Amino acid sequence: MSTKLPPQPSAQAGRLALTALLREKNLLAALEVFRAELGDAFSFNLLGFDPIMLSGPEANRFLLVEQRDQFSWRIPTDPVAKLLRKGVLVTDGAEHDHLRRAMQPALHKRMLTVYVEMFRHYTDQVTAAWQDGQTRDLLIEMRRVALLILVGTLFRVDFTSDLDDLWPSIMTMLKHISPGLWMFWTNAPAGNAAPALNAVDQYLYDIIQERREENDGGEDLLSVLVASGMDDGLIRDQLLTMFIAGHDTSTAMLAWLLYLLGKHPDVMARARGEVDTHLKGEPPTIENAAQLRYLQCVIDETLRLYPPIHLGTRRIINDLQFQGYDLPEGKRANYSIYLTHRSPEYWPDPGVFNPDRFLPENERGRQPYTYLPFGGGPRNCIGAAFAQVEAKIVLARLLQTFDFTLDPARVHVTMGATLEPRPGVMMTVRKRG
Ligand code: HEM
Repeated sequence: MSTKLPPQPSAQAGRLALTALLREKNLLAALEVFRAELGDAFSFNLLGFDPIMLSGPEANRFLLVEQRDQFSWRIPTDPVAKLLRKGVLVTDGAEHDHLRRAMQPALHKRMLTVYVEMFRHYTDQVTAAWQDGQTRDLLIEMRRVALLILVGTLFRVDFTSDLDDLWPSIMTMLKHISPGLWMFWTNAPAGNAAPALNAVDQYLYDIIQERREENDGGEDLLSVLVASGMDDGLIRDQLLTMFIAGHDTSTAMLAWLLYLLGKHPDVMARARGEVDTHLKGEPPTIENAAQLRYLQCVIDETLRLYPPIHLGTRRIINDLQFQGYDLPEGKRANYSIYLTHRSPEYWPDPGVFNPDRFLPENERGRQPYTYLPFGGGPRNCIGAAFAQVEAKIVLARLLQTFDFTLDPARVHVTMGATLEPRPGVMMTVRKRG
């Protein structure tokens, strides 16, 4: 019996996709053309890279919940699986569940009250270097904030003195796991990433060793992992997973937030008005973060338009069927958060930035799995609550203390390890009186 894969784009859609690709300089624009022609399940073949693409609420639920055991997260040939080894993100089955349970307490909502003070502290530390009227690349500045926060909270280590030394290694590591030659060529040369990867590893092994010696019963992730009896290698895999998954995503989210606020001064003014009303000049706390409802809408809408993790990738374990199509064993299947968030079937005027979509009265009737910036099902993002409170506190603090004007240069949606605004978000920063 012949296999009926989800349909491939027509020659005309191929031409339109190529035009979109050249105009927007990103593959997502081409995928939007394919989805418009073919719907929520299609296949394509780009130089031998031939995944099945799924999007929309039904497909997302199918992959993330109903048939989740038929998809493996770990694809051994992907650089991210090789790098993270037995990290919670790239393990499956009982091994994954055990790791996730071990890490959960350090990310519990209760811990956020402890972390909030550090969200603010590291924001202030980074902005202290800004001079009035200077133009800064907020993509870089937000990466500094996110790295200091991640290491300061989850590892309870001050990263300040190591940040500049490790910066080039971190950037090399992120490039190493970004889409690249490996997608088309299994044995593609890995480039010269080894020294960079070793430098980050060495840092992680050092802090594990120090914590073993201190053995101070802390509740942060590093202390919890050390106390769990895992060996150094397994702890390194979890720390590296969190180091990457927990900072690169927040970097992209914060950079896109500032970019969109810069493009929409009316939204920035309304968000700032809310911050000023509730904070009354005092530093943001977990309590008043909950009152910043419009800011939450701005965050939600930013994550809709520019979801830092724009897709989840899986390997099909056993032959499956979805809506009459065959999904054959061994094939790669991606669920696309980006396409789901931008489909006109589920979102009116999907390309328009409109935070009001997320006001409670406008959210009624939205189908589950049409909005999923943090994935879904039992393997959704373990850091979702952390990331959202982090975004609110950092942003509230920035709006409280600075005015921002966006440089008009064009920004491109770029698929790095996350979806990033490239070449950067240049903004003039002015201290508020
Ligand atoms: C805006 C920020 C973030 C976004 C948009 C985001 C998005 C996601 C998504 C979509 C997934 C599921 C991927 C899939 O289905 O293949 C995921 C998983 C994960 N995220 Fe996040 N994330 C963010 C922040 C964080 C933070 C702050 C941490 C750690 C503190 C974190 C750690 C993880 C881990 C460990 C997983 C794997 C969970 C598992 O497999 O059990 N993420 N994230």
